Amino acid sequence: MIKLAVLGNPIAHSRSPEIHGLFARQFGIALTYQKVLVPEGGLALAVGELIRQGARGCNITVPFKSQALALCDEVKGDAIGLGVINTLDFAASGAVYGYNTDALGLITDLKDHLQQTIQDRSVLLIGAGGAAQGVVPALLREAPKTLHVWNRTPQRAEQLIRLAPSSRLAAKTLEQLDTQYDLIINASSAGLNGSAPDLPSRIIGANSFCYDLSYSDSETPFLQWASGLGAAHRADGFGMLIEQAAAAFRIWFGVSPDTAMVRTEMLS
Ligand code: ATR
Repeated sequence: MIKLAVLGNPIAHSRSPEIHGLFARQFGIALTYQKVLVPEGGLALAVGELIRQGARGCNITVPFKSQALALCDEVKGDAIGLGVINTLDFAASGAVYGYNTDALGLITDLKDHLQQTIQDRSVLLIGAGGAAQGVVPALLREAPKTLHVWNRTPQRAEQLIRLAPSSRLAAKTLEQLDTQYDLIINASSAGLNGSAPDLPSRIIGANSFCYDLSYSDSETPFLQWASGLGAAHRADGFGMLIEQAAAAFRIWFGVSPDTAMVRTEMLS
């Protein structure tokens, strides 16, 4: 039996075991995927214990994605330069490889599932924490016309854009958010407190596509706010969750699950 896990705090809400269970069924892979509640400062111990038990790898979620970097022998792909890890691969050699599949999950969901183009569109990213940081390089690779970053604390937006210098990327203050955007992505954690970021209504038009990296059973506060302003096209991060999981599954098993099938199964 192959062993996998997701490590975080809190962790009870995680749907990763269900998603990976459905992926595994598609390929006849026998696995256990457990949720591990990790206390503050306990990440290294928890990862060490999984390795000792012979686990194949694990996912890392809030608030440990930055701390996981220190546990990697080598960092791969999108995680290089980001310092934010969401997948660990325990190689047979004993090496621990770190990846970030969140950004690929977002881009795949936007392009393949939601049929959104990013190229030549004006994009606003809300937030400058770990979640926002994790998706900036992948968004830039899609060649948007502009990628503007707004954060409640402006200095953090300035810091974020210095990490990925590009003529398309700029930090904006509230006053400078004076046009409508084609695509608005909420990467702030405001929704955790039941609120939407305090943004001017002028950034949203009927054709703005609004995407929230977080997800919940009911519409997120950010998407409710966008809906109230007439944004007809909206999606939460449930699709991204499935796609980032599929990318992790590919790393561990070298096969690509059918994500559309899993989305349908989980929503039925
Ligand atoms: P994560 O790893 O989820 O990104 P984080 O690194 O703690 O978590 O970052 C949280 C982000 O949400 C930050 O950009 C934060 O803004 P500040 O830098 O000003 O703290 C943003 N955020 C949290 N609550 C918010 C709120 N009520 N309105 C707007 N932004 C908020």
